[in-house]
Amino acid sequence: MKTAVCPGSFDPITLGHLNIIKRTARIFDKVYVCVMKNSEKKSLFTEEERVELIRRTVKHLDNVEVETADGLLVEYAKEKGAAVIIRGLRAVSDFDWEFQMALANRKIEPAIDTLFLASSEKYTYLSSTVVKEMAKYGADLREFVPREIIEDIVNKMNNKG
Ligand code: PNS
Repeated sequence: MKTAVCPGSFDPITLGHLNIIKRTARIFDKVYVCVMKNSEKKSLFTEEERVELIRRTVKHLDNVEVETADGLLVEYAKEKGAAVIIRGLRAVSDFDWEFQMALANRKIEPAIDTLFLASSEKYTYLSSTVVKEMAKYGADLREFVPREIIEDIVNKMNNKG
């Protein structure tokens, strides 16, 4: 069975993330979406909340499971029997960091490779940061995130004050 991991901070999941997850689920038998800590980022949603939001948006994808994990991504992938980590690439500006992470991960665990999927041209501008910025100013989020989670984002922003 071919298994892949789609890792990310998903704070929150966007239509761009969802597009990558769906395409990965078409290529692999089993996909683990893993919500992880990015030490460079401060998050809006807790890890448990992010898992719940993603689960709601992928519930129609039978071969996709959503989890959270602490620690190293390659350790998680190994635990799941996944030989492949999938990352979406939106633009050349993503490349340096992604390439560095892929090489670092392969150095730690040579049996696990990173594959990059070119993001859909519809979503090259999109990121969780853009979503949060739009939400802050009350923009219509339907072009950015799955409809099922819009209310959660609006509520979170309102409660944040
Ligand atoms: O969605 P993001 O924020 O770009 O995802 C980055 C993420 C969470 C995949 C990355 O920070 C990560 O792999 N974190 C887990 C810890 C780890 O393995 N770090 C090594 C990468 S060099």
